Amino acid sequence: MKTNKSTAKFSAIVKISEDLKKLSKKTGEEFLFLNRGINQVVNINLTEIIPMIDFNSPSIQYYAHSKGMLSLRKAINSEFFQNKTSDENIYITSGGMSSLFLVFQTLDVKKVYSHSFYWGAYSNILKISNKEHKFYNYFDDIISEPEKYNNSAVIICDPNNPSGRKTDDKKLFEVLDTIKNQNTTIIWDGPYRRLFYDNNDSLYKKLLNYENVIITESFSKSIGLSGQRIGFMHSKNNDFNEEFAIRLLYSGNGINAFAQILTEKILTTKEGKKAANDFKKKTSNDISENIKILKDKKILAEEFYANQTPFGIFVIVNKSFKELKSKKIGSVPLNFFTKRKDIDVEKYARICVSVPKEKFLKFFSKF
Ligand SMILES: Cc1ncc(COP(=O)(O)O)c(C=O)c1O
Repeated sequence: MKTNKSTAKFSAIVKISEDLKKLSKKTGEEFLFLNRGINQVVNINLTEIIPMIDFNSPSIQYYAHSKGMLSLRKAINSEFFQNKTSDENIYITSGGMSSLFLVFQTLDVKKVYSHSFYWGAYSNILKISNKEHKFYNYFDDIISEPEKYNNSAVIICDPNNPSGRKTDDKKLFEVLDTIKNQNTTIIWDGPYRRLFYDNNDSLYKKLLNYENVIITESFSKSIGLSGQRIGFMHSKNNDFNEEFAIRLLYSGNGINAFAQILTEKILTTKEGKKAANDFKKKTSNDISENIKILKDKKILAEEFYANQTPFGIFVIVNKSFKELKSKKIGSVPLNFFTKRKDIDVEKYARICVSVPKEKFLKFFSKF
């Protein structure tokens, strides 16, 4: 049998998780798994939402429309775009990874730029899609030399994974304004933002002013539903959307109906909105307390934050993977997220700060 090798690598972060779990089991010692990219402060409480779903109904048991259920697309239009886009521009996908995969396949560009600190999956999906992965270090690099990005796509991931650095929205719009009249597609992939904002956030509505922006969103982080595999893609370009719809259909024959109905209920019902708000409030509260602990202990790698406080579920700390492991804390070495040679990446690691503050304090008091 001959295999079509992509040269993409299986997730190294999954391997770290497996190794640490084995070690914890072997030694019988408790580990704090900050290597994982999930919100672990609390789960979203679905107790009042599940009884609203009729499992004996065709809407759960039959194929959903391959673009996604209209009721969910309408709910997304309201929640993210303040009803200012067309429901036709929204496509339900099985999460951010799947959206990105289809977007990279559908876009006719050779090069895709991301920040030089990037989510490793970008590189691997681009390899499978036969596209070149290039980097920018600062948003000002794009503003000062926009021609370089002509005929390419640029990913904006804000707040950033791995650093948790939040760039001022004003600066991000400056980037969009600078490249507005050239052939550069922006892929707006910011699944961490909505954990900290509710539907008063007007960012997505403002993005509608830019024809060349494709949004990939996920419900994995903002409402903690990573197990449901659900997100969406938004674009205003009809030609792109037509091809995306075909690829979406043939990649999975529609998205899981339960996940769609569940998400719709969370976005639209009183009980759902309360569950989402409670989840966001508790999660963001413990995240900020945990970041404070790191700051007080001088473990936060402040050099990455230009005097600002990180804003996201991840931060970079000035301890190595090995040092953290010796204190039973799981992390991911920073060199998994960058190819930069001008930074001593060995000194740093990425940790997830979305865990209960009491537990976090217990482990970090060892420093
Ligand atoms: C930057 C970024 N984009 C997208 C995703 C996709 O998440 P999912 O496939 O769970 O929706 C992730 C997940 O870790 C991420 O870090």
